[in-house]
Amino acid sequence: MRFPRRTLLALSLALPALSAFAAPLVMGFSQVGAESEWRTANTSSVKSAAKEAGITLKFADAQQKQENQVKALRSFIAQKVDVIAFSPVVESGWETVLKEAKAAGIPVILTDRAVKVTDESLYVTFIGSDFVEEGRKAAKWLLDRVAKSTAPAINVVELQGTVGSAPAIDRKKGFEEIIKSNAKIQIIRSQSGDFTRAKGKEVMESFLKQKDKKIDVLYAHNDDMAIGAIQAIEEAGLKPGVDITIISIDGVRGAFEAMKAGKLNVTVECNPLLGPQLMQLAKDVVAKKPVEKRIKVIEGVYTADQAAKELPNRKY
Ligand code: AHR
Repeated sequence: MRFPRRTLLALSLALPALSAFAAPLVMGFSQVGAESEWRTANTSSVKSAAKEAGITLKFADAQQKQENQVKALRSFIAQKVDVIAFSPVVESGWETVLKEAKAAGIPVILTDRAVKVTDESLYVTFIGSDFVEEGRKAAKWLLDRVAKSTAPAINVVELQGTVGSAPAIDRKKGFEEIIKSNAKIQIIRSQSGDFTRAKGKEVMESFLKQKDKKIDVLYAHNDDMAIGAIQAIEEAGLKPGVDITIISIDGVRGAFEAMKAGKLNVTVECNPLLGPQLMQLAKDVVAKKPVEKRIKVIEGVYTADQAAKELPNRKY
């Protein structure tokens, strides 16, 4: 009698004594791209954790394009991988390809970013940060600071992440939810910087050129855009972190260096080191063990006065 490969794998994962005879589990992983320091850390976490876990990883970089991710997913299905994991560049437009994976009997794990689908059975589980909460944390820090200020108005400019992506949508939502409790705080301009330093700098330059309103605060949806914007602010003859308060998200090493130099005021942590948990999940999913539908990552908030002490401890 012949058993399908996935059944043998599931058996060997459930009965460790058999694992010596099983072929390694094969994971197809479609990554968003290499747009930020965060992403680079996430990619190396996934690659090294796969190696550590004895999982064969088929890795595809989508260069921030949904069509490339759809192609990669279809190629993983054609190759009959044991499990697919991916970090979707945008939230919508996944229904068709996820149905194809389901029809092929290949379980899908979402990592880092979520999808919007009407049928939640199209993926098994989602492991990643709570982006709405990150936006709330950023805004709460600002509310505290504004409470100590006598300024009649606080003008905020916002650098959004990739249009249509879960972190851009959710970080905006969480931030707005909290700042609405203080009418002094207004977002006067908001544009996408696509999560990259180059775009962050370019968009900040255009914000600074519009002289109708003074900019008090920059809220950047990630550290890379904030670092790009810092350059633009300095080139405009202003002091980042002093003339313009800067709030960002991720907590990458570059942000800690900027905080240490007094150029960035606060960063909300978004942990990219998801690899080890993802590999364990993949093993459990293939072995048909029950897993949580949503697994959140626990994260903190770091301010400039903590940067020098915390910098040597940063792992990404
Ligand atoms: O999805 C996570 C976000 O994507 C990170 O905050 C950002 O830096 C990355 O590009």
